[in-house]
Amino acid sequence: MHPTPSVTNPNRTKKEFYDDLLDEVKAFVDGQRFWVTNLANVAALIYHGLHSLEEHKSKPVNWAGFYVTDPTNDQKLILGPFQGKVACTEILFGKGVCGAAAVSQETQVVKNVHEFPSHIACDSASNSEIVVPLVLPSGKLIGVIDIDCEELEGFNDDDKVGLEAVAKILIDSCDWW
Ligand code: SME
Repeated sequence: MHPTPSVTNPNRTKKEFYDDLLDEVKAFVDGQRFWVTNLANVAALIYHGLHSLEEHKSKPVNWAGFYVTDPTNDQKLILGPFQGKVACTEILFGKGVCGAAAVSQETQVVKNVHEFPSHIACDSASNSEIVVPLVLPSGKLIGVIDIDCEELEGFNDDDKVGLEAVAKILIDSCDWW
């Protein structure tokens, strides 16, 4: 299936944006269960979708994508599909914001990455970040959604709720290893 993203209204609220995003994600994963394909399209939907919002004109998103659990080492994340500049290829569980989300299996909304112990600065432009875990019903961590912003306080509870819903759709719609 080759759905077309909906026309974007820059003045949507974050809640409206995530309602639309969820519909787009569902349409793109329909009939497709290969995880690389679905994560690649969802990274693009998130990155370009957030860029289209007036709210993020003054708070540019500079990276959006995924780290996945290394199938050969369940204590290591490896770089998955993303949009943005080249990034760190490996992150140990417990290290950085991604590693904290991996260990706790809890969403991390970091208003100022410089105040986060062990934050990994893949891109020095990043000042805030949100990381949402992807967890199978068995409790196994499959990976994380990671989004960076060039300004402080780029993300809030609306992003957490919206991205956790995206994570749930992805968990259900892909075949994992
Ligand atoms: N800042 C992240 C590392 C990944 S980059 O943001 C793409 C962290 O501290 O986990």
